[in-house]
This record gives sequence, structure tokens and C-alpha cells, in this order.
Amino acid sequence: MNDAAFEIRRATGADVAALTEFGARTFRESFGKDNTAEDMEKHLASAWREDLQRAELLDPSIDTLVACDSQGLLCGFAMVRENHSPPGIATLKPVELWRFYVDKPWQGRGLAQALMRAVEASARTRGARELWLGVWERNERAQAFYRKCGFEKVGSQIFVVGTDPQTDHVMLRTLG
Ligand SMILES: CC(C)(COP(=O)(O)OP(=O)(O)OC[C@H]1O[C@@H](n2cnc3c(N)ncnc32)[C@H](O)[C@@H]1OP(=O)(O)O)[C@@H](O)C(=O)NCCC(=O)NCCS
Repeated sequence: MNDAAFEIRRATGADVAALTEFGARTFRESFGKDNTAEDMEKHLASAWREDLQRAELLDPSIDTLVACDSQGLLCGFAMVRENHSPPGIATLKPVELWRFYVDKPWQGRGLAQALMRAVEASARTRGARELWLGVWERNERAQAFYRKCGFEKVGSQIFVVGTDPQTDHVMLRTLG
């Protein structure tokens, strides 16, 4: 692999520590400036702990995909989960794209598209007819990326960061 190369694979138990650090760091880097320090710490403590990541990796309803650079270091990840439906939207067999993060140095370089193709493959393997997600109403870059990938806004939902109820756009695309 050259320096710009990456590989995408399913996460294993050996990834727990790196994934926990990466998930917390990228969430903080992406949204730290838009939230109070207290809300950020509360959210990170409730979502990014090694015991939680280990349980999520073992959960058969969740697929965790990681992108690694030529050194084997994490540069992105995605989590896909079953048994969650977009609120108030009629669907046949929805699978949620729950988390999707690409490290800053890798943004705009095609890694996110490759990760999205892996997400679609994972959702199709689970028999999904629709892929859906929630994205913060103020996260315009991510919304632009998802629109490029064929998602459309179909509704909204509340996502609580710490104590702050924030509005997410719900976006959905059908899988042929
Ligand atoms: C969302 C994310 C995965 C997208 O990956 P990416 O590599 O940045 O995506 P791309 O660069 O291919 O596409 C982003 C698009 O938004 C555009 N864009 C960039 N900044 C923008 C902004 N402030 N407002 C609107 N559009 C913007 C880009 O020009 C690009 O469109 P183009 O290809 O037509 O030029 C990545 O940015 C990321 O991980 N962000 C931080 C975490 C996050 O927000 N995750 C999603 C949580 S729901």
C-alpha cells in the first residue's frame, strides 16, 4: 500500500481501545466548538467507553466497519445497526447508518465514499431495503456528502448531546 492507501474491514475485539479513542476524538473534533464542555464530556462518557464498544462489537445486530491507513492506524469507521426505524416513516426493512466518521486528514479524498460502499454492502447482507440516518441540522458538510450518496431528507428527530436536545435531519435512501 502507498501512503494514500487504506483498507476497509470489519472491526474485531482487537480494535476496541483504538476505536474508543478514535470515536471520542473525532466526535470532539467535529462538534466540540458547538457544545458546552459539560455537555461534550457527558455525551462522551455515555457513548465512548471501552466496555460499551466491546459490547457493541459483540452485538449481532450491529456491524462495525473500520478504515485503516498503510500503518494500520484508524482513519475512519462506520456502524450499521438493525432494529431501529426512522421515526414516523413507512419502511419495508430499514437498516440504520448509526455512526459514520472520517478523520480530518482523510476527508475529501474518497475514503468516505469507499466506506459508504462497504456500509451499503453490509446493509444489503442484512436484507435492508432502506438505509437511513440522523445528521445534525447544522452539519452541512455531512448532509452534502449524504445527498451525494443518494440520501434525501424525510423527517427529523431529536438527538441529545449531554443535556442539549438537538434536531437531526432524518435522511433515507432505498437500496435497489
Ligand atoms: C461526513 C464525512 C464522513 C464526509 O466525508 P468527506 O470526505 O468529508 O466527504 P466529501 O468531501 O466527499 O463530501 C463532502 C461534500 O460537502 C461539501 N462541503 C464541504 N464543506 C461544506 C460545508 N461547510 N457546507 C456544505 N457543503 C460542504 C464538499 O465540497 C463536498 O461536496 P463536493 O464533493 O460536491 O465538493 C466527513 O466529513 C466526517 O467524518 N465529518 C466529521 C464527522 C461527521 O460529521 N460525521 C457524520 C455524522 S452524521
